[in-house]
Amino acid sequence: MNSTLSHPTQIQFYDLHPPLDDFRSEVLQGLSQPQKAISPKFLYDKRGAELFDAICTLEEYYLTRTEMSLLKTYAKTIAQYLENSMLIEFGSGSSQKIRVLLDQIDPIQNHPTYVALDISKQHLWDSCSSLATHYPGLATIAICADYTQPLDLSEITALQHQHRVGFFPGSSIGNLEPHEAVQFLHNAAHLLGAGSHLLIGVDLQKSAAILEPAYDDPQGISAAFALNLLTRINRELGADFNLDQFGYRAFYNSSNARIEMYIVSYTHQTVHLQGIAIPFAQGELLRTEYSYKYSVSQFQMLAAQAGFETQQVWVDPDRLFSLHLLSIPEYSSHHSSSHHSSSHHSSSQSS
Ligand code: AVJ
Repeated sequence: MNSTLSHPTQIQFYDLHPPLDDFRSEVLQGLSQPQKAISPKFLYDKRGAELFDAICTLEEYYLTRTEMSLLKTYAKTIAQYLENSMLIEFGSGSSQKIRVLLDQIDPIQNHPTYVALDISKQHLWDSCSSLATHYPGLATIAICADYTQPLDLSEITALQHQHRVGFFPGSSIGNLEPHEAVQFLHNAAHLLGAGSHLLIGVDLQKSAAILEPAYDDPQGISAAFALNLLTRINRELGADFNLDQFGYRAFYNSSNARIEMYIVSYTHQTVHLQGIAIPFAQGELLRTEYSYKYSVSQFQMLAAQAGFETQQVWVDPDRLFSLHLLSIPEYSSHHSSSHHSSSHHSSSQSS
């Protein structure tokens, strides 16, 4: 559905956001398991998106500034892939990183289209409005959607043409289990199509002494970000979580190379949600996120399983973070076996 808000003409807005029912059923399902867990995609309501932006500016959270500096350092090389392309960002958030790339493009010579996918509707809207003001030549398509689900953009007719470049920064791939990450990359390869590229940021394995403060800062922003999920459940689903009775835990599980993030129940207590009583034991954990860390070669193997080839990899001098430029071969057996749902990518040369 197109937004009816007044807006600059170069933004098209589509709402493919899943209904409230999905939030309700996923939360209920996640809280009735023996090991309670809720998908991190629900962390990003308006307040959650603000808190995440605050995390990105923390001294302890090295990821954002390190990736930004990689993007700036290699922007000219990357920009060669962006000529007359359609840039599709998975989880566009505040749309800050894309600016580094857009700054390299001459909108008169090249006519880029920017497609922003994000689950946080208001944040998506505000970010794209501000972006469109800064880049008047840029055609912007904002799509409120859950990018972890296979997307069919074939109905969005404006998306039919142009060479596609995917952009998935921030190491958000780390939120997925490795097998889910392969599935996501496989779906992305299908969406982007043969001959296209994907620029993806991946956080690297390192010592717990660096990792743990990044996910549990002394200011308590990381804690507030996780606990905001309970506030959201109270507000949107009418639950009665008492925020004084819950805390936050984050630690590095080095055998699985992942940060694990949890909400912890301080006491034995019962929470009510949609007429259902949910018991918590004292010290019981509710998982909000995993954040997997990879080595460069481990990630390349993952990408290869999804049909991607590595074009280039960039790593900062401290080896904190990696930026991978991947490509989907024109004629891969992987790709021809994945033609089932839509064929919009293969029609980009015709009609
Ligand atoms: C958005 C998934 C990349 O794992 O670093 C940061 C999320 N959670 N601090 C990450 C997050 C708490 C972040 N990603």
